[in-house]
Amino acid sequence: MSLTWRRWSRRCAISAGVERAGSAAATGTCRPTQNLTTQVKLTILTPAPRTRLRGRMLSLIDHVGVAVADIDSALALYRDALGMELVHRETVAEQGVDAALLDVGDGHVELLQPLGPETAVGKFLARRGPGLHHVAYRVADIDAVLTALAAAGLRLIDESPRVGIRGSRVAFLHPASTGGVLTEIVQPAEDH
Ligand code: CO
Repeated sequence: MSLTWRRWSRRCAISAGVERAGSAAATGTCRPTQNLTTQVKLTILTPAPRTRLRGRMLSLIDHVGVAVADIDSALALYRDALGMELVHRETVAEQGVDAALLDVGDGHVELLQPLGPETAVGKFLARRGPGLHHVAYRVADIDAVLTALAAAGLRLIDESPRVGIRGSRVAFLHPASTGGVLTEIVQPAEDH
């Protein structure tokens, strides 16, 4: 290996046969001044395109929604047997449910009892029986996140946020574009 090669190699911060991420070639300083017999493969790693929000859109799994036929019966499992603290109950007319929130660390389980058979959860229960209904991710700015998700090609059930439990703002994504999982994003009210 010639002296010229070693200088060039050192300047390029690479050695023969070893790929390194670097920007030397991009700056135009990584050209040999003499013919070199050693084959060098220089790979420039380019970061994946990033949206402004990517990587910090979803801060936490806020809750899992569970469809139940009767909240009081379900509390025997979630509160009494599993030991979760019941922190809130509410009828959420806009979603057609009686709902209960139980604490699990910083997240919750959200029990959903339909107000009638024609509601979304009522139809879900008739079709699939009780069980996991949706996963909800917490966001800080639901309007910005909805815009970003639509731009990413996801199918929105809610084009704009609606009222959720405990004064939150929520929006649902269609399971057809989220791998079969009904997905909710939720921005909690200021005091939660
Ligand atoms: Co929910």
